[in-house]
Amino acid sequence: MNEMQFVSEGAAAEVSPPAHITIREMTLDDYDEVAGLWQNTPGVYFGEADSRENLQKYWARNPGLSLVARDGKQLVGAVIGGHDGRRGTLHHLAIAASHQRRGIGKALIDCCLQKFREQGINRFSVMVYSDNEDGKNFWKSLDWEEGTRVAVMWKSDD
Ligand SMILES: CC(C)(COP(=O)(O)OP(=O)(O)OC[C@H]1O[C@@H](n2cnc3c(N)ncnc32)[C@H](O)[C@@H]1OP(=O)(O)O)[C@@H](O)C(=O)NCCC(=O)NCCS
Repeated sequence: MNEMQFVSEGAAAEVSPPAHITIREMTLDDYDEVAGLWQNTPGVYFGEADSRENLQKYWARNPGLSLVARDGKQLVGAVIGGHDGRRGTLHHLAIAASHQRRGIGKALIDCCLQKFREQGINRFSVMVYSDNEDGKNFWKSLDWEEGTRVAVMWKSDD
């Protein structure tokens, strides 16, 4: 039977279900594998902001909203999420190439949005490279809309 468990702080909830996949909150113990997945997944930007120390700070501000998926012991998916009290933002969704198109990305996002909603957040955004058609198709398949009126402006002091 297809069954997926989301386990976080002792709570479990069923979501849409590839077999043998477990979704859990991301911790520092996952960092090296997650960083490797991000670095090896086209469509995901991995930079200095994603250091172990910075993620630790991010999780202190945004507890419970960053998740990993594992097939047995193998890390097969990751996403980080946070909010400003009004809107949630997702970053760095990646599913291992070996495990794509099995519903794991959808299940990871379903779990993640469930955790946001438990914190009272029900508006979400994600940045996707404009040439990442597969990525955009994924989000559209989950009923996310592509923005057409917003450009991203950014600045770095480094
Ligand atoms: C995009 C990504 C996260 C999707 O994860 P996934 O686990 O493979 O996706 P799912 O199996 O849950 O797919 C759900 C639906 O999304 C759509 N979809 C997923 N990948 C797709 C692709 N490559 N092309 C077109 N549609 C796609 C399909 O409608 C799919 O349903 P179906 O398989 O029944 O047709 C994964 O391919 C990935 O990590 N890509 C590289 C990194 C990336 O682009 N991340 C997103 C940037 S924010």
